Amino acid sequence: MSFAEPKALIAEGDTVILYLTVTSVYAIEAVPQIKNKKGELIEHVFQTNFGALKVKDIIGVQYGSKVELSKGWAHVLQPNPELWTQTLPHRTQILYTPDISMILYQLEIKPGSIVVESGTGSGSLSHYFLRAIRPHGFLHTFDFHEERVQKAQDEFNGHGLGEYVKVIHRDVCENGFGEELNGKADAVFLDLPAPQLAIPHAAKVLKDAGGRICSFSPCIEQSGRVCEALEQYGFVDIVNLEVLQIEDVVRTKSIPVMDLEFVKYKKNESDKETKTPKEVKKYITSSAPTTMAGHTGYLTVAELPPLFAR
Ligand SMILES: C[S@@+](CC[C@H](N)C(=O)[O-])C[C@H]1O[C@@H](n2cnc3c(N)ncnc32)[C@H](O)[C@@H]1O
Repeated sequence: MSFAEPKALIAEGDTVILYLTVTSVYAIEAVPQIKNKKGELIEHVFQTNFGALKVKDIIGVQYGSKVELSKGWAHVLQPNPELWTQTLPHRTQILYTPDISMILYQLEIKPGSIVVESGTGSGSLSHYFLRAIRPHGFLHTFDFHEERVQKAQDEFNGHGLGEYVKVIHRDVCENGFGEELNGKADAVFLDLPAPQLAIPHAAKVLKDAGGRICSFSPCIEQSGRVCEALEQYGFVDIVNLEVLQIEDVVRTKSIPVMDLEFVKYKKNESDKETKTPKEVKKYITSSAPTTMAGHTGYLTVAELPPLFAR
């Protein structure tokens, strides 16, 4: 239940983030015992590069504390969508924070929003929708893979988010989102291999006037098909975006301080060099890196105008 509200202490059953370093971050369930491969109950001991953690020792500990491992230490943190994306069990390809920030912004997601999503996949994006729409909004998320549907619903319930989301088992390209949602959604998000087939159904569930849609496409050909379908079904303001993250490289550079006496003295070529600049100043500089994180996908966004304008 550790996602729903800020908490002081780790309770049994919480999902807890074990933070060792920037690149060693894990999600663990705070239960004293787990089942082994033979189905027997054994003590829950979590192994890390800095040694083992007896998970029973963190129950009752304050979130944010430093805890001892057998060969070092780590911090125990309350999970949030950003940390969950870094640590969640991958059942599919997932979306990451840079694209997700743009999706939330472009779809104008806010408390109270009614959102329709497909596919649910590993629920990475869904956790951000759930944080943004609570306490009055609702997420209807669809996937045609039955096991993923069950796992996602169990995860949302376990995270204390069950009352804000329903995971529905359906092929949305074939069967749409269901008549009961017609005209109800503020936003639709698609992360599907053939999203163009879901666009006629998306046009039905979006609220008349102002409903926003966004579709993630790994390649430009797919986003081209999405643009054509959006146009055909009356969407306007169609924009294709790519989010590329550039990390600033911050370095300290040493630069010699200009010595005017020295410059003057060196004016004539025949002058013999007798002085050298002595003082060197250190500056913190920032520059673009030589390489960049690669392409993830294109975000095609559009809006549904009022019925009379379509
Ligand atoms: C790439 S994953 C989505 C990942 C998700 N955005 C996340 O951040 O975790 C795509 C999902 O779409 C589902 N899917 C593909 N085609 C579908 C369809 N026609 N109807 C419903 N779900 C579909 C797949 O089963 C898969 O789980």
